[in-house]
Amino acid sequence: MFDLTEEQLMVRNMCREFAEKELREQAVEIDRTHRFPLETTRKLGELGIMGVVYDDKYGGAGMDYISYAIAVEEISRVCASSGVIVSAHNSLCVSPINYFGTEEQKQKYLPKLCKGEHIGAFGLTEPNAGSDSGGTKTTAVADGKGFILNGSKNFITNGEYADVHVTLAVTDKSGQKNKNTSFFIIEKGDPGFSVGKVEDKLGICASSTTEMIYEDCKIPEGRMLGKPGEGFKIAMHTLDGGRVGIAAQALGIAQAALEEAAKYANMREQFGAPIGRLQAIQWMIADMATEIEASRLLVYQAASILDKNGANRRPASKYAAMAKLYAAECAHRCAHKCIQIHGGYGYVKDYIAERLYRDARITEIYEGTSEVQRLVIALNVLSEFES
Ligand code: CAA
Repeated sequence: MFDLTEEQLMVRNMCREFAEKELREQAVEIDRTHRFPLETTRKLGELGIMGVVYDDKYGGAGMDYISYAIAVEEISRVCASSGVIVSAHNSLCVSPINYFGTEEQKQKYLPKLCKGEHIGAFGLTEPNAGSDSGGTKTTAVADGKGFILNGSKNFITNGEYADVHVTLAVTDKSGQKNKNTSFFIIEKGDPGFSVGKVEDKLGICASSTTEMIYEDCKIPEGRMLGKPGEGFKIAMHTLDGGRVGIAAQALGIAQAALEEAAKYANMREQFGAPIGRLQAIQWMIADMATEIEASRLLVYQAASILDKNGANRRPASKYAAMAKLYAAECAHRCAHKCIQIHGGYGYVKDYIAERLYRDARITEIYEGTSEVQRLVIALNVLSEFES
């Protein structure tokens, strides 16, 4: 593998140490109790992990996207719930404010977000606008003093705990699909804005996933992010970065599955020897290790393309989708094999294999299903060969 810089290695060591010390024991408890890890999330903020790639003049750590991917990978290796909290916050809330916010908006929102004093969320998905984000129904109508929002968003990561939400709403009802929406910054406590259903999920149980309701929600002037009609493009730009974060989360889960499987295979004896001596087990370990290295290269490649292109993320779209697609499916396969190697012990909660299996599953769904990633990849490849 190519060499990491000193800074990237420092982030790896720091996040690994933090995860082992602060997250490992807690990960079991918060998965069972569905408790949001607010305290350790604040501590990650103190370490710069809630604003990894953002300018230090806004409180960010000013590092690169590879460092960001490494941070999410290391955290997710131990606690995938914390991994998505960090990823959704950095990639989906801080990023659009950073790239599309006015100077005033950046100064107002970024410092607290980057320090982890405030938590961020991204409101895109709606009951009838999942893969088809352009089908957004939430509306924002100008009232002379600002906007009034009506509608609802669902499956919002960090929803219940977020202080700042960025959200997509239709601002031109008669406008063309994908050109009729705008993004807005919503603050916790804005009148008419509330948390709805709190989801009870299969995995990443300690993260918060909620419905957010807008009922004549009044927001003042100065809350629109970017220009009117630019909402869909901001969403896509944001997801091009977000998908690298989720790919890194999947990579961390896959790595954990490999480590657990290998340790167990060395320890568990059947037929008079450790099961790791059996070729059936060795082939599974070999496939896991190879696919994880391939995922890691795809994730770091996508991150380095984000680094090279700054605010222009189009060159990264295809690579972010490839990294997420491959790393998510790799995490699923690795978690499956991890349980298989553990046999019956993999199916019970005494071992973490079953949590890894549950946590891996979402990475194939959120921030664009694997089918959406294949669509993005295929459209990019086909356009490269248009005459
Ligand atoms: N960056 C900037 N602009 C982009 C873009 C990108 N990556 N991709 C497309 N666009 C632009 C296009 O150029 C086009 O603009 P013009 O009309 O000016 O040419 C416009 O956007 C519309 O593009 P498409 O026709 O390709 O759009 P579409 O309606 O066919 O949708 C899609 C494409 C890929 C399916 C898209 O809707 C998509 O990515 N859907 C999945 C949404 C998603 O990932 N949801 C996850 C929810 S978020 C989440 O899970 C958060 C969480 O909390 C963890």
